[in-house]
Amino acid sequence: ILAIWHQLTKTEIPELTRVSVMMRERSRVEDTMYAMQKAGAGSLQVISDFDMTLTKFAHKGKRVPTTHNILNNRLLIDDDSTVKMKKLFNTYYPIEIDASLNPEEKLPYMVEWWTKVHDLLIQQRIRKDELARAVRDSNAVLREGCSAFFDCLAEQRVPLLIFSAGVGDILEEVIRQNHVFHPNVHIISNYMDFDHTGVLQAFKGQLIHSYNKRAGALSHGATLRELHGQPNVLLLGDSLGDLSMADGVSTAQNILTVGFLNDQVEERKESFLNSFDIVLLRDETMDVPNAILRFIV
Ligand code: C5P
Ligand code: MG
Repeated sequence: ILAIWHQLTKTEIPELTRVSVMMRERSRVEDTMYAMQKAGAGSLQVISDFDMTLTKFAHKGKRVPTTHNILNNRLLIDDDSTVKMKKLFNTYYPIEIDASLNPEEKLPYMVEWWTKVHDLLIQQRIRKDELARAVRDSNAVLREGCSAFFDCLAEQRVPLLIFSAGVGDILEEVIRQNHVFHPNVHIISNYMDFDHTGVLQAFKGQLIHSYNKRAGALSHGATLRELHGQPNVLLLGDSLGDLSMADGVSTAQNILTVGFLNDQVEERKESFLNSFDIVLLRDETMDVPNAILRFIV
């Protein structure tokens, strides 16, 4: 029977046989997918990271900006600050993805990075009414097939929780400009707080960075409670820190995790394989998540 099942996935989901797809335990993936298919769209929710998960890592040979980096624009901040932000990225991003450090070791550096950049943005008195233009000006681009992913979830009324350590206001603008900000989309992120004249004065709530998503997931219980009727979770991320995004779902029955391994691929392959059910190597498309979705709903 198992052989027939394997055959089934091969013919029904040819995307999973690509060389860019790796699985530590194929049978676990298949069992989970069949259980999710049996329960159907009504039992499913999707929890996804944003930067470098729903957006591309690189496009036409250039790195795609994160929501923070979209703000690194002369329109919004002065020359001196653009240089500073770039420097901070070059200092801290390598630490974020360093395979030789564990999350506890990275944590203080991440807090430092986010805090420095948020302080800089506040000091630059960013204006709310210029964010949309900064997004239009930027090279932000969603993964190929991402619109189809959003549209399918909306059609099937599957809730999509986007859980991002980026900047919520920018994230919303990116998905709005891509015409995929559908009513089934919920967002947990770092939101800007503007004064009455529309100038940035602070960031709202507890800071979310790449390695404290568990705390965020637990404290945003109210938002997550709306998703409580959906015990099956498809989780997408590009960082080991993204795996805790589903920790707030207390009623989870089946969780299938997909990890985009964009950078430092050889160094991080083993840890990704040990942590995500499916690992996608340098894959700039949503082909695999779309195929999984087609199979389940
Ligand atoms: O949506 P996601 O949780 O992936 O957003 C966070 C990402 O933004 C981090 O992975 C980090 O690489 C990036 N970042 C950045 N500039 C900062 C802070 C984070 O580009 N100041
Ligand atoms: Mg990310």
